[in-house]
Amino acid sequence: MSELTRFGVSVEDELLVSFDRLVADRGYATRSEALRDLMRDALIQSRIDAQQKGAEVLGSLTLVYDHHAHDLTERMAELQHDHHDLVVSVLHIHISHDDCMEVIVLRGRAGEVRTLANSLVSLKGVKHGKLFVTLPSQAIIGREDGATPSAQARSHPHTHEKPPARQRSNKVTEKVKAVAKRR
Ligand code: NI
Repeated sequence: MSELTRFGVSVEDELLVSFDRLVADRGYATRSEALRDLMRDALIQSRIDAQQKGAEVLGSLTLVYDHHAHDLTERMAELQHDHHDLVVSVLHIHISHDDCMEVIVLRGRAGEVRTLANSLVSLKGVKHGKLFVTLPSQAIIGREDGATPSAQARSHPHTHEKPPARQRSNKVTEKVKAVAKRR
């Protein structure tokens, strides 16, 4: 085992109290042990990202921030406009008088998606942010027939309705029409 180095970390009291609770809940003997695990986890994740930088991914980035924070909303909008090709959709929720939550759906190369997410999370005033990354479904389900999934998807009539549901909805439409005729 390599030598241990001690280093100091400055942290808000409130955050430390919460962290100690997490350390106890997860059964760690010491803060150091918990912190080492968090560091390893971050390093492993970043290594995975580095290996798959060119892969097409889908991501959802959740941010919680105080919209009063100086320039924050402007900088967030600017970053998203600069990378509009990666931003698929944005959901904004006003949580309280001060706080907002934004869920940003991203699509693109893993490296670019991660870089944009990091830029947004590290903005001053963002209280919490996390990126969830997944792969397009055809990359998750192994295809062995050699067909191009995208070409197939395009030719396939895309509907989320199941036939029985459609029949039911037609009946409802007929009923509505009948009621309308009676009036
Ligand atoms: Ni808001």
